[in-house]
Amino acid sequence: MSNLYKQDTQVNRNQRNQLHGHNSFVVWFTGLSGSGKSTIAATLQVKLYDMKINTYMLDGDNIRLGLNSDLDFSETGRKENIRRIAEVAKLFTDAGSVTLCSFISPYIEEREKAKSIVSPENFLEVYVKCNLEECEKRDVKGLYERARKGEIKNFTGIDSPYEEPENPDIEIDTADLSVEESVELILNKIKSRL
Ligand code: ADX
Repeated sequence: MSNLYKQDTQVNRNQRNQLHGHNSFVVWFTGLSGSGKSTIAATLQVKLYDMKINTYMLDGDNIRLGLNSDLDFSETGRKENIRRIAEVAKLFTDAGSVTLCSFISPYIEEREKAKSIVSPENFLEVYVKCNLEECEKRDVKGLYERARKGEIKNFTGIDSPYEEPENPDIEIDTADLSVEESVELILNKIKSRL
């Protein structure tokens, strides 16, 4: 670290935000697998695109197929997963995109670290709440069934913890709300920040 020098750039985030005509920040979706994080983030992204907002979506499954394919679902693996994503999200925010991050991110401490890496004023935590019973009933990817059979170890909600956000910026209960309703709720909260 000691031999590194931060390189200054001629074009900064403020200028890029001016160029794009809107602000950039991170919307961080946390919740159990199957709670609806990615579906909501993807639908929100379409709405924002229609509003001519630059966005980028970082999603657990996709990132774990590429950048983080070396990481497992142990506590250490999940922590490193979130640290890297937070660093990537910081870059996208600097590049001027509204960055939608959708990761289980089960630990409060790691979400707090992600927030401080990105910077608290550019970070909105969205808790996509859905009880385990409902997520298991949906079981879109069939992973809960396999986890219950013991075929997948360290599965969140089964034999790996999920720490609920204590004070999220936005909370949506997808057991009660439709995708459209959830997206409207988030959109209303973030409009003033754009
Ligand atoms: S996190 O805990 O490190 O934040 P992340 O969001 O990247 O998790 O990845 C979660 C996705 O990986 C789930 O949606 C699911 O499809 C898949 N997955 C595979 N194994 C597990 C596991 N043991 N626990 C949770 N999700 C898993």
